[in-house]
Amino acid sequence: MNRRCFLSMGVAVLGLAGGALGQEAKKTYTIGFSQCNSAEPWRAQMDADMKAAAKGHVEIRLVAKDAQNDRARQMSHVKEFVTAKVDAIVISPLDTSLTQAVAEAFDAGIPVIVLDRKVLGDKYTVFIGADNRVIGAEVGKWVAKALGGEGNVVELKGLSSSTPAADRSEPFREAIKGTKVKVVYDADMEWLKSKAREKMQAALARNPETGSIQLVYGANDPAAIAAYEVAKDAGREKEMKFVGVDALPNEGIEAVRKGILDATFEYPNGAREAVATALDVFAGRTAPKSITLGTRLYTKENVDKGGEKVGP
Ligand code: FRU
Repeated sequence: MNRRCFLSMGVAVLGLAGGALGQEAKKTYTIGFSQCNSAEPWRAQMDADMKAAAKGHVEIRLVAKDAQNDRARQMSHVKEFVTAKVDAIVISPLDTSLTQAVAEAFDAGIPVIVLDRKVLGDKYTVFIGADNRVIGAEVGKWVAKALGGEGNVVELKGLSSSTPAADRSEPFREAIKGTKVKVVYDADMEWLKSKAREKMQAALARNPETGSIQLVYGANDPAAIAAYEVAKDAGREKEMKFVGVDALPNEGIEAVRKGILDATFEYPNGAREAVATALDVFAGRTAPKSITLGTRLYTKENVDKGGEKVGP
């Protein structure tokens, strides 16, 4: 039997199952999507990509909600989606405090696709994201090389209760071990540009001498860019290099082009893969427990060539 014949049989069977004898099935699938904070540029892009990916499929109805960086609000989203009996939940959780809500949805039989930040345990259907440990290690290698194996670093870390924070930091520290690259100041900027500004001001105040900081590692581009701006206000931006993560075309990559950032590592948001995975689940195809996305490095040297792939 050829593929088309097989597919049209499938449609006919679905039509019968739907009780619409002689009619084609018109089942729509509702995806409840909970974003932890749409105000951040990387997440605004994820929202837009989710919408665009869903738009290509008439059978999908996307219900998107923004938790505005509020855990309790995001927990309520998940509960509301369970009550509404959505066909799947896609969630990019604020942090691991969403573990329980996700587990309850999963236990209620709703497929749950987790994006970017992880929950604890295994009560979810699929996790999709880039490997932040690989990114952390690649940042460390790049930093050690860019500094010629020696220098003082400020590390602006992500929200400590979210998994990418430690995952981007620990392998970075591992990679600079055995070199003379030293972290002289670190702080939790909670992934927020405004917090990163405050922390960078504190870093400069603690290291007031010219030439006492050689590089700032911002765990995301908003933090790295904020660090540059604060250093510039203090007339110190030329003393140091700035490296971040995300590589949005109109944010990190643009900043590399302008000479604000020395490097940024791409962090794909997984929206397209999430919609594709939901479709797999709806079609009864088995999805892998984890889908790992790749990363790319952008520097002044390679930005016009589209960056370069790094990591496995
Ligand atoms: C946005 C963001 C990104 C970062 C990701 C980590 O909230 O901070 O900039 O890469 O979350 O989870």
